[in-house]
Amino acid sequence: MDKEIYTELIMEHYKKPRNFGKILKADAEYSDANPLCGDEIKVYINFSNKKIKEIKFIGNGCAISQASASMLTDYVKGKDLEFVKKLDKDDVLKLLGIDLSFNRLKCALLPLKAIKMAVYSYFSK
Ligand code: FES
Repeated sequence: MDKEIYTELIMEHYKKPRNFGKILKADAEYSDANPLCGDEIKVYINFSNKKIKEIKFIGNGCAISQASASMLTDYVKGKDLEFVKKLDKDDVLKLLGIDLSFNRLKCALLPLKAIKMAVYSYFSK
């Protein structure tokens, strides 16, 4: 059993995730799963002037993965490829506001990987 106590902020994002949903005809999409639990996330992005104009996600997962997706999708709105490239685990932990065990870190980083892969796929076209 994980010992982390989730903050009110995390639980709030988990219960009412920002940017939850699909974008029909998105410029970029990427799905990924956490191999430890099988939980999945799919990210949809539309771009304008090489910046993230709109971003949404769907998926099933634990409080950490869903809160991380909610916070990250807000965080990258209006940002460009260079900004997304530099995002790493420390940025995600800062947004979540807690330290995480190895297994929980995988949950937290799942949305970051999906966002990065969607952005990279768009710019590599
Ligand atoms: Fe599956 Fe966290 S337990 S993503």
